[in-house]
Amino acid sequence: MIETDFLNRQNRLLDLVGGGVVIVPGASLVQKSHDTEFPFRQNSDFKYLTGFKEPDATLVLSKNEDGEIKRILFLQEKNPEMEMWTGIRLGSEKAPEVLPIDEAYPNHELGRRLGEILSGHQKCTFNLFNNDLRNLMAKTVKGINSRGKAKLHRPLNWQHLSPYIGKMRLQKESSEILAMKQAAKLTEVGHRAAMALANPGINEKQINELLTYLFSQENGEGAAYDSIVAGGENALILHYINNNCALNDGDLLLIDAGAQVNTYAGDVTRTFPVNGKFTSAQRDLYQIVLDAQKNAFGHMKKGVSLSDIHEHTCRSLCQSLIDAKILKGTLDENMESKSFRKYYPHGTGHWLGLDVHDQSPYLDEDLNDVLLDEGVTFTCEPGLYFPHGDRDVPKEWQGLGIRIEDDILMTNEGPENLTRAIPKEVKEVEEACQATLDTVLEKLSSKPLLA
Ligand code: GLY
Ligand code: MN
Ligand code: MN
Repeated sequence: MIETDFLNRQNRLLDLVGGGVVIVPGASLVQKSHDTEFPFRQNSDFKYLTGFKEPDATLVLSKNEDGEIKRILFLQEKNPEMEMWTGIRLGSEKAPEVLPIDEAYPNHELGRRLGEILSGHQKCTFNLFNNDLRNLMAKTVKGINSRGKAKLHRPLNWQHLSPYIGKMRLQKESSEILAMKQAAKLTEVGHRAAMALANPGINEKQINELLTYLFSQENGEGAAYDSIVAGGENALILHYINNNCALNDGDLLLIDAGAQVNTYAGDVTRTFPVNGKFTSAQRDLYQIVLDAQKNAFGHMKKGVSLSDIHEHTCRSLCQSLIDAKILKGTLDENMESKSFRKYYPHGTGHWLGLDVHDQSPYLDEDLNDVLLDEGVTFTCEPGLYFPHGDRDVPKEWQGLGIRIEDDILMTNEGPENLTRAIPKEVKEVEEACQATLDTVLEKLSSKPLLA
């Protein structure tokens, strides 16, 4: 990632918000237990604009009516005593040399300098739901108001940052797509290894740990979100993250897991037999979900929305449920009543990027669906979930949960499935289940994956 990319993003954001001051704080460490913290995760917007990886920093951008731009970073000051405990800090002296900013100051100067930065500007954009920042702004603006007779504009127009930066983050740049392709590659290794390791008696926990380890290879940053490793009926819990049950012969294993690279997420689900061979009932149901996904791929093109794709996917799944005599009535009647939602309760896709559910808008200012365009990245994840005891569902399908999820990049030539190398056809999945873990891991040691 070159510095000019960050500078360009900052410039575009200042244009989008109409100038004035933009304030974007990074993340802080979050306490896990007394004297210990969770691993640090940078705020996605801050990362997008600066690339800076330390906690407790704040970016303040400003653009005045003459078009003059200032880029200021507030950050942790160097402190050898603290650095001995928690690691080296960049510090305000070095920061302008290596980061896409003009000036840098220690955090304790933020309150004082903010008043000077805001004076003369009428517009200010920040996360209006951030209470700490709101309090600081209230105090700062009060300070400007009471500053005697100086005839300076002060912010009257407060804007929420999220819709502006969300819009920018929708279409990915080439450096972002590269990170997502790398995340897809590590995600492939993880899923292949899981297929190889899974066997009756293996615990979901072992597979979860293996995924985390493999997602951390080379420049991987571990799992982008808590992996879902759900054997048997655990797959019916959509966000199952306990991952602590033994896998049973004859069950399916649903794994929803993706690697993170340079803060960009992979998000992939595969469902496969613990013993390596689908029963015919499992295979039939798996094929229904796979066909629904293929049907969805067929509708992906520039100018359609994620809602359109969801609608087509629901129709495909719904028709299959009618064919299997689980739902009664016509397709249109069932679509109208949404009867299928009992078995397919989630959406078919979401934006994907720095956040696994990327925070870009789904509706534009006129409440129209945002349409697929070159560079947008999203998931496609149909599924079916049948609880035990549902008399409308054939006995051999009760207790099954199947989801298949891939990561898609829209290009001018059509959709590109970034995660297509992860086995998915019945035969491919069964073959991948027969592979030994050693063969999968050998690939890792033979040459770098992420060239
Ligand atoms: N892994 C969360 C999701 O698929 O949306
Ligand atoms: Mn997922
Ligand atoms: Mn997803």
